[in-house]
Amino acid sequence: MAQPKSIAVLGVGKLGEALVSGLLKQGRLHAKDIRGADPHPETSVRVKQSLGIEVLASNTSALKGADLVILAVKPQNMDQVLREIAPALDPHQVVVSVATGATTSFIQARLGEAQPVVRAMPNTPALINEGMTGLCAGLYAKPKHIAMAESVFACVGRTVQVDEGLMDAVTALSASGPAFLYVVIESLAEAGVKLGIPRHVSTLLAAQTMLGAARMTLETGAHPALLKDMVTTPAGCTVDGLMELEEGKLRVTLIKAVVKAAERARCLVPPSAGGD
Ligand SMILES: NC(=O)c1ccc[n+]([C@@H]2O[C@H](COP(=O)([O-])OP(=O)(O)OC[C@H]3O[C@@H](n4cnc5c(N)ncnc54)[C@H](OP(=O)(O)O)[C@@H]3O)[C@@H](O)[C@H]2O)c1
Repeated sequence: MAQPKSIAVLGVGKLGEALVSGLLKQGRLHAKDIRGADPHPETSVRVKQSLGIEVLASNTSALKGADLVILAVKPQNMDQVLREIAPALDPHQVVVSVATGATTSFIQARLGEAQPVVRAMPNTPALINEGMTGLCAGLYAKPKHIAMAESVFACVGRTVQVDEGLMDAVTALSASGPAFLYVVIESLAEAGVKLGIPRHVSTLLAAQTMLGAARMTLETGAHPALLKDMVTTPAGCTVDGLMELEEGKLRVTLIKAVVKAAERARCLVPPSAGGD
């Protein structure tokens, strides 16, 4: 798989920083191979200190010589950043956008047909190399370009290629998903506290239980309903808990949360920026 030798990350906020941190921890790229860009000097200083990468104030300077350019700015800044970097890009540089809702045609319209564009939707667990990234290719990206983008995100977790029409759904499920699951962990931990377990023990029990359940699902390949049945003894205590979950509509609430987040993802890039 084609690995980039150097990367520029434009926008080193929460996601950009998590990504760089995960890449450095994984060890295939070193601090000297990654350059960041951010308009605010305090962010540059903080990221330089914490990650050791060079962070420049100028996007066009930061992207010079990079094989792969990751756009990790807010969706509402995408139009301006794309117009700014378009004249400075080399057609050999692969542009990877992680911006929610910015379609490849939106990006391509501002960068021109020569530029290979890949859209990626990672999540913050990339910070600890447990990320999940959905990827799709723009019209002019060749398999070698998507392979290069995928190789970067594969360093910080799992990857999956999807049709672009599913990217907002991926955003809602796996990029917003950690927030939904933190609420579940927090609630389970709160239940433990209610039953007298010290908070730190209760949080450990809840988080490790979620990790274990997730790994069981991934490693056995079994349907989650089957795994649930393995825990549910007839006339036991789990079935009583499950009945409470059904009554509280946990299932439909989670489905509605993901659907709502996907709807929002679709309209994060302002129409004034020209849409597609
Ligand atoms: N957070 C997530 O879990 C997640 C997951 C998947 C995808 N994403 C996507 O990743 C992107 C970044 O999200 P985030 O949560 O990391 O947001 P964020 O923390 O606000 O990061 C954006 C960074 O870009 C900087 N920036 C603003 N204008 C810029 C410009 N013109 N050139 C270069 N940098 C600029 C911001 O600086 P200032 O804050 O100082 O203005 C900030 O450091 C978004 O498009 C989001 O949709 C986020």
